[in-house]
Amino acid sequence: MQSKTFVAGLAGMAFLTTLLGSGPATGRAPATRDESAGKRLARGKRLYNGAGACVACHGTDGRPTVPDAPDLTDADWQRQRTDEELSKSIANGKGTMPAFKGSPADIEALVAYVRSLAR
Ligand code: HEC
Repeated sequence: MQSKTFVAGLAGMAFLTTLLGSGPATGRAPATRDESAGKRLARGKRLYNGAGACVACHGTDGRPTVPDAPDLTDADWQRQRTDEELSKSIANGKGTMPAFKGSPADIEALVAYVRSLAR
């Protein structure tokens, strides 16, 4: 009888743990992961053409308007860069490209948008 109570107790605890562990308060994934791909892309496009002023050097479609900028529409070039490399370059700047002072979610959105420019 005693062991049955023990087992029931364990099951109850497991249930409670599951209940508590699945609440939104645990926040294991960063908030940006909850942003749908479409929303992230739209945010990236807005920043690219707006606050980031990326469009000034990278053109509306990713074709550079300054001589030393890479062609962002070049799918082969894109494959040679990881998302981490792109994030770092955008956040810290590279060569004559200025650093973009944005939130991690902004940077993530810009990388997503840059990826969408590949043809
Ligand atoms: C003043 C012009 C200028 C602006 C503004 C600019 N870039 Fe650039 N960007 C460049 C140049 C030049 C390079 C090439 C840097 C190098 O390789 O030395 C570059 C490189 C890049 C790269 C490739 C980085 C790599 O790791 O090779 C990405 C991605 C990029 N820019 C995205 C952006 C985004 C997104 C923005 C807006 C937040 C932006 N750029 C704003 C000029 C600019």
